[in-house]
This record gives sequence, structure tokens and C-alpha cells, in this order.
Amino acid sequence: MRRSIVEGIGHYLPQRVVENSEFEDKLDTNDAWIRSRTGIERRHFAAKGETTSDMGTKAAFAAIENAGLSPDDIDAIILATSTADLTFPSAATMVQNGLGMQHGFAFDVQAVCAGFVYALATANSMIASGQANRVLVIGAETFSNLMDWSDRGTCVLFGDGAGAMVLAAQDDPSSSRGVLAINLRSDGRYKDILFVDGGVSKDTTGHLRMQGKEVFRHAVEKLSNTALDALEQAELTTADVDWIIPHQANKRILEGMAKRLKVPMERVIMTVHDHGNTSAASIPLAMSTASSQGRLKKGDVVVTGAIGGGLAWGTAVIRW
Ligand code: UT7
Repeated sequence: MRRSIVEGIGHYLPQRVVENSEFEDKLDTNDAWIRSRTGIERRHFAAKGETTSDMGTKAAFAAIENAGLSPDDIDAIILATSTADLTFPSAATMVQNGLGMQHGFAFDVQAVCAGFVYALATANSMIASGQANRVLVIGAETFSNLMDWSDRGTCVLFGDGAGAMVLAAQDDPSSSRGVLAINLRSDGRYKDILFVDGGVSKDTTGHLRMQGKEVFRHAVEKLSNTALDALEQAELTTADVDWIIPHQANKRILEGMAKRLKVPMERVIMTVHDHGNTSAASIPLAMSTASSQGRLKKGDVVVTGAIGGGLAWGTAVIRW
């Protein structure tokens, strides 16, 4: 079977950095609470008029450049988002246009914070089946547009940004690099613990609503279990893992997961302090940050997992 390998990674963060202290004037909250309960210190917010596809396009250019390629080399674009610019067309086709691509195909995937893992799984399957040779997988979000600014339990948690990965068919049969296993899960019974109370058929954009404690409990348990299931599928154990790159929602979730997996925190990539929770963008943002710091090396075993609204969750095991 054809395997897909990571050829390039890149990201884009909007210029505006919002420190925790900025919330102190408007809400009954403070920097110390946010830091100690979440690990978040700051996040980026998109400028007025700066859209998900604008950020996705910039991240896409960065990933293509990182791979040493041009947009002509890309067959398809799969963009994970819950905050597309418009109801339709897809943000992915807007990125396609932004890249000047008139060939191939592009579409969005919506699995909220797990969106990047779902998009990666789709790209991997398309490459394995021969439908595409090189797919741009993007996570891009403007969650700041979904915040209820009077709800201190949610509005301090989220940020905006985009990350992108070039995933390509492996052309060296002797190489062990590539996507080794993917485990996807969802359970719609949990709709009411994390959702947006609006949408096209409700005739309002709505705001994000979350029962934080409940989501936290599910996150630690389900992220650990899906990681173990994916590792088993790949015939690996946690001892083989070089890096865990989890969805960046809360430092304490990452610590809880690492403890359950018996993996030291030195092997967990953490960017939540600088980015907040950027939903589907959080994994490629964390990957791109770790890669630019020289931490991710070719051949490293990377376990990357996420959970979010649905609930939907999943893990990919990649030999980088
Ligand atoms: O990406 C999708 C996945 N999302 C997540 O994984 C998020 C999961 N949940 C969490 O990260 C945490 O549950 C939160 C950070 C949302 C909340 O932390 P917590 O330790 O579970 O706090 P809590 O909700 O139990 O609230 C404890 C107290 C409450 O006050 P009382 O009722 O004890 O007086 C809250 O009202 O902290 C209060 N609180 C705050 N205080 C200051 C909640 N938000 C804030 C705030 N500043 N921003």
C-alpha cells in the first residue's frame, strides 16, 4: 500500500497578540487564574476583515515553501475549519484561488478541534487509493468570531491562526517514514457539552458554549485511549514515541494525558501558552512551531491527537 509522508509544514498567526491581562478590565478574571487553570498566557486574534481563508492561504504558502515546492505541485487541498469565511463556497476553494491554482480540487472538513486529524485521515486515504499524489492539509480558524465576550469560562481560552502540511505519496519503498496509523472516533450523545448555539438553519451565527469540566474529563480519557489504539494499530508502544503533539486546549489536559500514557512532559509539544486553543489549527501550528525550533527530526515517531465538539476525536501516528 502507498504510504504518505510529510514533506513540509508551515503556519501563520495574525499580528495582534492579546495578553491575559487585556481581559482583566472587562471581565472578573485575571492573568494568574488563566495561567494556572489553562497554561494560556496569550493568543492571537485576527484583524477586522482578516478571514480564515486569508490565514489558511498564508500558512499554505509557508508549507509549500518549506517543502521546496510550488502550488503547481499540489493536487488537492483539504481544509479543516468550523469558521469558514462564508457558508459556501468552501474556505479550501478560496485558498486554492489565493494560491493561484486552477487545477486539482479543494474542499473543507468540519470536525471542530479534531478537524485537522480528520483532514489528515482523508488526505492519507486519498493518497493511499491513488486519487491524489500530493495534498495540502490545512487547519485554519477565527474562533474569536464565536466568542461571547461576557462568558469568562470560554472567551479567554481561544485564539486564531492557521497551520498547513504538505502530505505526499512516498516514492521510496525502502523508507519507513509516513503516516503509520489513524484512529478516528465520535459520539454525538455529547453534543450539549460543547457547541455553538447558532447556525444557518437557526438564522444566527451564535456563540460557543461549553461545560468546561465535562469536556476536560472526556479530553484526558479519550485522547489517551485513542493514542493507545492508534499506536497498537501501528504495532508500536509509548516507549517508541519521540513526540506527542496534542490539540492545544489546556496545559492540564496535556499533563493528564502524558501521565496516563506514562510519557514525560519533555516529549510533549506545548504551544498553548502562546496560541491559546485555535481549534483545528492547533495541531499544525504546534507541529510547525516545533519543526522551526529544530525539535522534529526525520524518522521521529509523532503521535498527534485531538478532541472537540461532537464529541469528535482521533489520533494519527506518523514517522516524521
Ligand atoms: O478544544 C475543545 C476542548 N476544550 C477543552 O478541552 C476545554 C476543557 N476544559 C477546560 O480547559 C477547563 O475546564 C476550563 C479552563 C474551561 C475551566 O477550568 P476548571 O478548572 O474546570 O474550572 P471550573 O469551570 O470548574 O471553574 C472553577 C471556578 C468557577 O468559579 P466558582 O463557581 O468555583 O466560584 C468558575 O466560575 O473558576 C471560575 N472561572 C473563572 N475564574 C476566573 C471560570 N473561568 C474563569 C476565568 N477567570 N476566566
